[in-house]
This record gives sequence, C-alpha cells and structure tokens, in this order.
Amino acid sequence: MITCLEFFSGIGGLHHALNVAGVDAVVLKAFDMNEVANKVYNRTFGSAPSNKAIDRLTVKEIEKYKVDCWLLSPPCQPYTRGGNMKDSEDQRAKPLLHLISLLAKLSNAPQYLFLENVKNFECSQSREVLVKELDRLNYDITECLLSPLQFGVPNHRLRYYLCAHKRAHDKPSQDYIETATIHEKWPFNGDSATFAIPPISQFLDLDEPAIDQHLVPAKYITKSHNFRFDITLPSHSQTSCFTKAYGSHHVQTSGSMLQTRNLELLLQNNYYDWANPESLLDLGLRFFTPTEVARLHAFPMAPWANEFSASETDNDSKLPRQYQPPHCTPHIDFPQEITTIQRHRLLGNSLNCWVVAELYRCVLFNPAPL
Ligand SMILES: C[S@@+](CC[C@H](N)C(=O)[O-])C[C@H]1O[C@@H](n2cnc3c(N)ncnc32)[C@H](O)[C@@H]1O
Repeated sequence: MITCLEFFSGIGGLHHALNVAGVDAVVLKAFDMNEVANKVYNRTFGSAPSNKAIDRLTVKEIEKYKVDCWLLSPPCQPYTRGGNMKDSEDQRAKPLLHLISLLAKLSNAPQYLFLENVKNFECSQSREVLVKELDRLNYDITECLLSPLQFGVPNHRLRYYLCAHKRAHDKPSQDYIETATIHEKWPFNGDSATFAIPPISQFLDLDEPAIDQHLVPAKYITKSHNFRFDITLPSHSQTSCFTKAYGSHHVQTSGSMLQTRNLELLLQNNYYDWANPESLLDLGLRFFTPTEVARLHAFPMAPWANEFSASETDNDSKLPRQYQPPHCTPHIDFPQEITTIQRHRLLGNSLNCWVVAELYRCVLFNPAPL
C-alpha cells in the first residue's frame, strides 16, 4: 500500500485519480486553505483536509506521516497571463517553494512525487528550482504537457505534469535540466493508435428537468459584439478548457457553451455571425452543468443514461488505456449548500482524473515508464 500526502487538495482530483488508476494507495492527509473545497473533500472522502497554510507547515508536521508519495497541484496564477506571470516572485508560489525547501530536511523524504500545473510552468523559475532540487536529491524525473483529448476525452485542458521517483542507488547528478525532455505525445513514444473520442452528447444530462437554469443569460451574449467564444454541439467531440470563471459573465475564455437549438443553422452555414450577437440568441446556448463538467473531467460518478461504454479496462496492464467513465468509489459529492457558481469554480480549478490516473499507472508507479 502506497501512503500519500495531498497538498493543495481542492476537491481531491489527485486523490480520485488514485482510485481511477486502481493503485493500492491511501491519502493519509490532505492540505488546503479553501474552506468550500474542504467541505466537498470531507463530504466525498470522509476526512477533512488541514486548512493550515502550506507555507507554514513544519518538517515535524510532515515527517510524522512517514509517507511514500507527495501529490501536489499548486496554484497556477504565478504562471498565467491573468496572474501577471510573476512566477517565484508571486506570493502564491511561496507554498510550493516552501515544500521544495523542506524536501532535503526530511528524514523520510517521499519515494514518489507527482505535480500538476498549467502550461507555462515548464518555463518558470519555480519549475527550475523544483527539478534542480529533485535531481540533487537523487530523483528520476519525467515531465510532460498533455491534454485529455489525447486520452480519448472530449475536453481540451493542456497541463504540465511531473512524475519523480527516488533512484534505488545514488547516481552522480547528470544535470537533468540541461537534457530534460518535455513529452507532448501520449503515449510518450507516440507509436500506438490515437484513442477514439466520443461525442459530447454522451456526457450530457439530457433529461435534467432544470436545464433551463443553465441557459446563458442574453446580456452575456449581446455584450460580446465581435468577441468570439467557444460554441460546441452535442455531436461534436471537443470542448474548450473549463476555468474557474465558467458560468459567470466571462464567457469569452472560460469554457465552451453548448448549442441546443437550430443545430442545422451551423451545419448549413458553418459560421456564426459574431458581428451581430443578437443572432446568437436563437441558438439556445447553455452552460454545461457542474455534473457534466465533472464527467468531462473524468471524476468518478454514478452511471448515467447516455454514457459512453468501452471494453473492460485492465488496471493491471501498464499499457495506456482508452478512456472509460470511471465508476469507482467514492463518487464526487457536493454538499447541497454549495452553489452552482461555487461548483463551477472548484471544478475549473481542478483537473482531469483520467489523465492523472494514466500517468500514475504508466509512469509514476511503473518501474519501466513508457
Ligand atoms: C489548482 S488548485 C488545486 C485543485 C485540486 N487539485 C483539485 O482537484 O481540486 C490550488 C489549491 O491550492 C490551495 N492553496 C493555495 N495556496 C495555499 C496555501 N498557501 N495553503 C494551502 N492551500 C493553498 C487553493 O485553495 C486551491 O484549492
């Protein structure tokens, strides 16, 4: 059994991914300052994360868990344009830098370390500090930039992932950073066939009685003269990245809107009249519901009416698998008082559990990674 600590746990995407992967692992403690996220985490897993600021955790507080593995998904704002790209100078990078500084001081450093972040992290000072320290402390490192689309999930979410594990024997440092490769194909060798991507219709709540409450308010659409946003159709096999602003008036860049009416309009003309946003009001545009976003993020959920089914998956093989809706338990469970906008915010901050699960199985916990 692999024991883990989960830092920046949010709604527990990295924890769910352990179950999706079928890895024999347990999370001994999670850490996050966000009380709303912690309510969801506690409701789902039956254990409340510590809300102590991670930048104030001491060696003693971490050492006592004696874990094999650290799971980390630190804040991404220091590495995004919206967050001004201040990198290590950004206060929000401090908890990650603090954890890196603790690694060498631990009497029982973790055997494995997994980190998720946004694209751009790969060119940051924070990443440089991290890989230099891991290399110095004798970890083998694998880095990649991948999107769920490459795994057969109809959602684009290009993210940086790092898998590290302690070498069995000390090896002189080869200055990893000079020769590092960031893999951008899945599987890394790019040999096998690409995975089929099911249509979005198979992720939808077609009989949700309150679906009208998810319609995009007309004022969000009409204010967007000559601004494009992503519109997708049930028959399409792609959605854009859902961010924490999804469901709000930030329609331009926060994620796809679903067209539910006049589907033939697009099919005939193959264009939208962006200069005349009133014309878009006939399209029945709606937001994806939090449940639908959670499905597109491959969170473990109860089976649903129109879901995609693939052949049985084989957890034991270390070969990459075709995406299949994960039904392992626990399912993600939002307490009732968490509003739709809060759910969207939490999901937008979270990650794709299938992608992470595959990286756990095939790279992090695989002695002979692809
Ligand atoms: C990118 S989100 C991680 C989301 C998570 N992987 C999930 O599946 O929901 C980053 C998280 O770090 C938390 N966080 C940011 N700074 C923190 C700090 N100093 N101490 C503890 N948690 C912090 C935020 O509350 C947020 O939930």
